[in-house]
Amino acid sequence: MQYDVCIVGGAGHVGLPLGIAFAAAQQRVLIYDINRAALDRIQSGKMPFMEAGAEPLLKAALSKGLIAFSDKVELIRDCKVVVVTIGTPVDEFMNPSLRLISQCFEALIPHLSEKQHVVLRSTVYPGVSDWVAKLLAERGVRCEVSFCPERIVQGFAIEELKSLPQIVSGLTEEAENTAAKLFSLIAPEVVRVSMKEAEFVKLFCNAFRYIQFAAANQFYMICESANVDYNNVMKAMKHNYPRMKDVPGPGFAAGPCLFKDTMQLASFYENQFSIGLQSMLVNEGLPLFIVGRLKEKHDLRTKTIGLLGMAFKAGSDDRRSSLSYKLKKVLLTQAKQVLTTDPFVSDDSTLRPLDDVIEMSDILILCTPHKDYKQLNLRGRETVDVWNFWR
Ligand SMILES: NC(=O)c1ccc[n+]([C@@H]2O[C@H](COP(=O)([O-])OP(=O)(O)OC[C@H]3O[C@@H](n4cnc5c(N)ncnc54)[C@H](O)[C@@H]3O)[C@@H](O)[C@H]2O)c1
Repeated sequence: MQYDVCIVGGAGHVGLPLGIAFAAAQQRVLIYDINRAALDRIQSGKMPFMEAGAEPLLKAALSKGLIAFSDKVELIRDCKVVVVTIGTPVDEFMNPSLRLISQCFEALIPHLSEKQHVVLRSTVYPGVSDWVAKLLAERGVRCEVSFCPERIVQGFAIEELKSLPQIVSGLTEEAENTAAKLFSLIAPEVVRVSMKEAEFVKLFCNAFRYIQFAAANQFYMICESANVDYNNVMKAMKHNYPRMKDVPGPGFAAGPCLFKDTMQLASFYENQFSIGLQSMLVNEGLPLFIVGRLKEKHDLRTKTIGLLGMAFKAGSDDRRSSLSYKLKKVLLTQAKQVLTTDPFVSDDSTLRPLDDVIEMSDILILCTPHKDYKQLNLRGRETVDVWNFWR
């Protein structure tokens, strides 16, 4: 076969760093994706999104001829391993949708054979790995199937792929062994579990982080409501007190994974995942809380409000599921004007230069604490800084 590994959805945040990591481990990689524009950009040596340390490795892989790109699904025939990064997003009912993964496999199936190994790599609803395995068997494709979920923090995949243990599971022992061998090429260690266990490992990792953020955000809102400075409370709580060292600071808990994966668990557990559902209400409620507090002090209809940072987290250009946009949406109906800015987001034509936003706003809300905002001249504007970033 011409390629060792094909990454389906290979132009995306999960797929591309993984493809680059395999190429850096001397594997012949095919990046398959339906987004032709993204493939063209990557093929020219440019990353389509921010990913620390990825671009030099991409260029090295291109120059060695170890990475190729295609939007033609039939090329997957020529790949020993097919890694699928398409996941199960939640729909408007907060239930997982199998539409994308099922469309993806409909396209892949005619080109898969028993000589190949399919790795499911994205986060999936519990039972989906088995569902895929059954789908393949029903269609007469007797390939190996494994589920090896991604657990990196977005933006730092290159570093984390080589430093974090990789969860590995397979439909059969052979499949698990093949997957373990594959990931041993790039990961320091593999942890073997069953497919169902691996699904829960991944979902629990994300849901737990989401719950931790919710606890911090709820503490913050309790203190604010009592006119107590939460940051002083937090500092005192954590000072030389190891049991509190992992309490995160308050801030917008958003992005394409944490909310979705918590809702997948809630759906799986028939809406009895009460701590997850409550966390969603707290985290999604923080923008509303901020608006409520501002309304206690101001007639917002007379105020221009500037939002600093529209990416879902600091140092990122990704605005998927960013709570900055939820805050913007709420304020649009309440304030005189809402202005937005971000140093990294490049796909939102409504963004304005930072200077204009500071100059024209009465109130500035720090939505995303990008490093670039540390030393700003805020020109005496009233600020809202949930993150305690400027103090
Ligand atoms: N972003 C993260 O840090 C992260 C971490 C762990 C898990 N995940 C999970 O991984 C999955 C993918 O996330 P992402 O952030 O990489 O998304 P993404 O949108 O960045 O990438 C998905 C890619 O798949 C491509 N694609 C979509 N349908 C396709 C198809 N049928 N055939 C081929 N290509 C197709 C898209 O064009 C896109 O390039 C999600 O389920 C997500 O929850 C993401």
